[in-house]
Amino acid sequence: MIERLAGRPVIPVIVIEDANDAEPLAEALLAGGLDVIEVTFRTAAAPAALARIIRTFPEMLAGAGTVVTREQAQRCVDLGVSFGVAPGFNPETVRLFQGNGIPFIPGVLSPSEIESAFGVGCTLLKFFPAGAAGGPKMLKALAGPYSSLGVRFCPTGGVSVDNMNEYLSLPEVFAVGGSWIASKRQIAEKQWSAITRQTREAVARAKEVAR
Ligand code: 3PG
Repeated sequence: MIERLAGRPVIPVIVIEDANDAEPLAEALLAGGLDVIEVTFRTAAAPAALARIIRTFPEMLAGAGTVVTREQAQRCVDLGVSFGVAPGFNPETVRLFQGNGIPFIPGVLSPSEIESAFGVGCTLLKFFPAGAAGGPKMLKALAGPYSSLGVRFCPTGGVSVDNMNEYLSLPEVFAVGGSWIASKRQIAEKQWSAITRQTREAVARAKEVAR
């Protein structure tokens, strides 16, 4: 799973208010060339939306984002998500996922946090909030000492089609994440063709970077 995840250069970070939008949203992403999705647990609709995507599109890597409590982590395991993501590092949620054989991508912003997460077996980490924390320059400096350990990062927070390749050019970056590919407003307004267009654009842009 970690290898599969690391092969996807762009992870759409989704905030979905209505679980009925789950299937058309997944279809819009697939049509644009992306078979990965991170549905954030920031809305009441998130678990139902994930369940629908997992049932209807088993070929998709359907992960849960903003997994910050033990209860949410257990819910994710019960749903059969492909991976979990959080803005921070919580050893309890990481353990729960790992105990069920599901990769977890905790958020980090400092060397100590990287070492704590790596120490419990996490090798894919989220660099969040990437833009506000100093962008590609900060990530390059932060990731450098850990390169040889095989730790790799997914920056999110302030990533866009215009700056994504500054991150993807760093060897320690396995993917970028962001809400720009399918914004909360576009999902609520069912702008599926715009989402497909943005997905296609992001996939094409990622291909410009030799990896
Ligand atoms: C996340 O949860 O990863 C971020 O909130 C996404 O940030 P963005 O909206 O700036 O892409």
